[in-house]
Amino acid sequence: MIQLFHVSMAYQPDQPVLVDANLQVEKGEFVYLTGQSGAGKTTILKLLFCEVQPTGGQVLVMGRNVSRISPRSIPYLRRKIGVVFQDFRLLPRRTVAENVAIGLEILGLSRREIDRRVALVLKQVGLAHRARGFPPQLSGGEQQRVAVARALIAEPAILLADEPTGNLDEDTTRDIMRLFGDANARGTTVLLATHDRRLFERTGRRVVRVEAGKTVFDSDIRLEAREAERQAAASSVGRRRGGEPV
Ligand SMILES: Nc1ncnc2c1ncn2[C@@H]1O[C@H](COP(=O)(O)OP(=O)(O)OP(=O)(O)O)[C@@H](O)[C@H]1O
Ligand SMILES: [Mg+2]
Repeated sequence: MIQLFHVSMAYQPDQPVLVDANLQVEKGEFVYLTGQSGAGKTTILKLLFCEVQPTGGQVLVMGRNVSRISPRSIPYLRRKIGVVFQDFRLLPRRTVAENVAIGLEILGLSRREIDRRVALVLKQVGLAHRARGFPPQLSGGEQQRVAVARALIAEPAILLADEPTGNLDEDTTRDIMRLFGDANARGTTVLLATHDRRLFERTGRRVVRVEAGKTVFDSDIRLEAREAERQAAASSVGRRRGGEPV
């Protein structure tokens, strides 16, 4: 679904952000992307959304190489991706309901169906009462929930969520994380960037850490490594029992 092969990326030629980032996310996975502020989490999400180009290596999204995709095809790819941007990117002169509906209008649904879905998703993020408000009139957490609603409304194949709970209290965070879990259960592949450990601790879900421009830690890999160690230890005990010199 998502693949990064030895990806490098620099916004300025002498300042590499990613140097050898590798990542493979299968369809239907839920993966946390973590790492310190400035590590490159947002940059990875921007690569997947074709907002920036890699300076080296390959980025594949749903089988498409983002370096080879024509500018005309980018909107088609983006229709299948829901994004919660770290800075929300809401349209200030459109109402909350209009901001959320944007993700559906390009799909050509009827007005009635759009209104129905907008009302439902706004209710899910706890903002039904703010539908006619404008983003500048909302709190940071409310704006963030509008961004979440907009990203989820079209049931995207991939959800890219960048610190989607950064402005939310504990209860609202739990509600929003549940919505992401539900979307994932319905088949959406989720990549969620955060440096808040509390979001992924004890979830048992896969965690990938970005550090010094690389993906250095992957909880799946760690489990595999532990398992390999365990098996190696077990077989060496077996050999000793078998009377071989230690
Ligand atoms: N448009 C840009 N132009 C130049 N440098 C940039 C730009 N965007 C990001 N950077 C730099 O790239 C590095 C990685 O930024 P990025 O936003 O990917 O980090 P992050 O892991 O998302 O951090 P945070 O946790 O603070 O959101 C940082 O050093 C940042 O200053
Ligand atoms: Mg970021």
